Amino acid sequence: MSNTKEKDTAAVTDKDVELKTVQSDNSGSDVKGDDKAQKDETQQDKEKDSKETDDKADAKKDSSDVKEETADKDSGVDNEPFKARVIVVTSGKGGVGKTTSSAAIATGLAMEGHKTCVIDFDVGLRNLDIIMGCERRVVYDLINIVQGEAKLNQALIKDKHVDNLYIIPASQTKDKDALTLEGVGRVLRGLDNAGFEYIICDSPAGIESGALMALYFADEAVVTTNPEVSSVRDSDRIIGILNSKSRRATNDWEPVQAKLLLTRYVPNRVTKDEMLSVEDVQELLTIPLLGVIPESPDVLKASNSGHPVILEKNSEAGMAYQDAVQRLLGNEVELRFTTEKVGLFKKLFGKK
Ligand SMILES: Nc1ncnc2c1ncn2[C@@H]1O[C@H](COP(=O)(O)OP(=O)(O)OP(=O)(O)O)[C@@H](O)[C@H]1O
Ligand SMILES: [Mg+2]
Repeated sequence: MSNTKEKDTAAVTDKDVELKTVQSDNSGSDVKGDDKAQKDETQQDKEKDSKETDDKADAKKDSSDVKEETADKDSGVDNEPFKARVIVVTSGKGGVGKTTSSAAIATGLAMEGHKTCVIDFDVGLRNLDIIMGCERRVVYDLINIVQGEAKLNQALIKDKHVDNLYIIPASQTKDKDALTLEGVGRVLRGLDNAGFEYIICDSPAGIESGALMALYFADEAVVTTNPEVSSVRDSDRIIGILNSKSRRATNDWEPVQAKLLLTRYVPNRVTKDEMLSVEDVQELLTIPLLGVIPESPDVLKASNSGHPVILEKNSEAGMAYQDAVQRLLGNEVELRFTTEKVGLFKKLFGKK
């Protein structure tokens, strides 16, 4: 699929996603005839249902619906804490590096020996499996599990780079309203029961339903931000939502621990006042710093080859992600790659 998207939208456009036939080249998979017939039937039912609910659809887009849903104690939404640490990678603004960071952080945690699952909540786009290099293995996805069309085990894809890592892809073919808090809670409970230590939720852009599904169960949030005003503003909005609409907020538990991940940082441009500095962003958002990832061509190269950049041992972006993972694990690591690189000419003749 194409990886090009509208990157500058602050909000998800909630247009209905075109229903397409499920495509997969996974010839070695176990998709049975019965399953397929059941899927087709469910698809028809869903199309019928979606027609009936069309009129209500617009009202459902608003984040306030999630509040109503969570307020209803009989809604069946899982309300017991998990043993696993659930971490949402979120931002508000689109295209800031959430999926890149989700792939890198999940891979880094698994490399440290932690059983980790990374879930793509970006219904309709499906980028995570491409960055992780497993797009050809996708048969079932998050919505299939939520709707009972597949068991958790059938949708979990084992990562091909590191042990201990599994991926649940997003659906490319179904509508965004197919996710429910009750269903997402069931998936997370299943992962918790299966002994996963970390569950990384890759959020879609925006502050609407999809992003709320991704953040609702979070214990921690990696607030991914670029060093520019619009990105900081949208991160601030998402911090407000974490503090008011998450499961921790609605149950009056300890608040979600939000941490700042500053991505695409270019120290030379900060010196020229073309970008906000680490200190500027921290001052504006006032949440602890998890890491600063430098702008690097290695990121695109790595994701084009289906290889999370954290696996590139000599890449500065890869090393910065390794540092961020260490901090997530509670280790103190000094910041790197945040100061201007001074060329030899400037060193010899340049001003101080
Ligand atoms: N540190 C970096 N250096 C250079 N390019 C980067 C860096 N981080 C991310 N990118 C690039 O930015 C683009 C957007 O990244 P990504 O898809 O991870 O963002 P996103 O926040 O998940 O987007 P969306 O909101 O659409 O889900 C990609 O082309 C990616 O390669
Ligand atoms: Mg993304």
